[in-house]
Amino acid sequence: MKCLKCGRPAVFHMRHHKLALCEIHYPEWFVKQTERAIQKYRMFDPGARVLIAVSGGKDSLALWDVLMGLGYAVHGLYIDLGIDWRHKGGIDYSSVSREKVVQFAATRPEARFTVVDVAAEYGESMPQAAQRIRRGRDKPCSICGLIKRHVMNRVARDGDYDVLVTGHNLDDEAAALFGNVLHWKTGYLARQAPVLPAQGEGLVRKAKPFCRLYERETAAYTLIAGIDYVYAECPYAIGATSLRYKETLSQMEHQAPGTKLQFYLGFLRARKEAFFRERAEGVTLTPCHNCGQPSSAPDLCAFCRLWER
Ligand code: AMP
Ligand code: FES
Ligand code: ZN
Ligand code: ZN
Repeated sequence: MKCLKCGRPAVFHMRHHKLALCEIHYPEWFVKQTERAIQKYRMFDPGARVLIAVSGGKDSLALWDVLMGLGYAVHGLYIDLGIDWRHKGGIDYSSVSREKVVQFAATRPEARFTVVDVAAEYGESMPQAAQRIRRGRDKPCSICGLIKRHVMNRVARDGDYDVLVTGHNLDDEAAALFGNVLHWKTGYLARQAPVLPAQGEGLVRKAKPFCRLYERETAAYTLIAGIDYVYAECPYAIGATSLRYKETLSQMEHQAPGTKLQFYLGFLRARKEAFFRERAEGVTLTPCHNCGQPSSAPDLCAFCRLWER
C-alpha cells in the first residue's frame, strides 16, 4: 500500500478513513488532527497554561509530545498511586510507569513535570486506602479514580493552570459511552464531553484532545516518534468491565470500520439536545468543608470522607 500523499510505502492504514500514510505523513496527519480537535471544541487557546496528566502510558506521553511540538506551555503531572504487584509475581506498576515519565522528560529539555506521591502526601497508597474502605471486596478502581480526579484538580488549581488535559482516546470515550448507555447513567452522559468548562473557582477546565483518535492511531504515533511507554495495563484493570466494552466495540469495529467514531460523534450531536442539557445543569456543587474543592455532598467531599473513615 502507498502513502496517499506522496506515494512512498505506507506504514499505517486507517480503514475507517480510507487513508494510508507513510512515516513522514502519518505523524503530520496525527498532529493536525489533535490541533483540529483542540480548536473545534475550543479546548484552550494558544497561550493557555496547560497541565497534562501523564500516566506513563502511550496516550498521555504521545499527547505531551504533540502539545510541546505545537508550542503549547504544558506542564506534566504524574500521580504515584503506589500500585505494586510484585508480591503476586507482577511488576511494580507505579514505579515502572513513573520511570517512563522520567525517561521521556529526560530526552526533551523543555519537558517539566511534577510528581504527587499519594502515600507520602496522604499517609496511605491508593491500594491501602481501598483495602481499608472496601476490605478487599471490590476492585479499587473507583477509589483510584476518585483520588486521581481530586489530585489533578488540586494541582491544576494550586498552579493556576487554565486547563487540565488527559490522554483519553476514542476507544476510552466510546467504551465509557457504551457503559453509560447500557446502564442509562444520564448524569454521566451529560458530563461526558471533549471539554468540560471550569465550574466557578473550584473545578478546573478539562479537555481530551485525543477524543477522536483511535487507540491504534496513538500507538502508531508513539512507535514512529520513538516514545517508550509502559505496555502493561494496570493490574487491577484485568477483568474490568471497561475492557469488556472495549473488546465488544472492537469486534464491531472490525466488521464495520468507523463504528466507534460514528458512535461517539453521533453522541456528541445528540448531547446538544435538551434532555442531556437539563441533567448537566441540575447538579449543584458546594465547597468541601475540609479541602474547599467542589462537591455534591453538603459537608465533606468524597475524597475527604475517604481519609476520615
Ligand atoms: P486511564 O484511566 O488509565 O485510561 O487514563 C486516562 C488518562 O488519565 C491518561 O491518559 C492520563 O492522562 C491520566 N492518568 C491516568 N493515570 C494517571 C496517573 N497515575 N498520573 C497522572 N495521570 C494519569
Ligand atoms: Fe487505578 Fe488501576 S489505575 S486501579
Ligand atoms: Zn507520504
Ligand atoms: Zn474535600
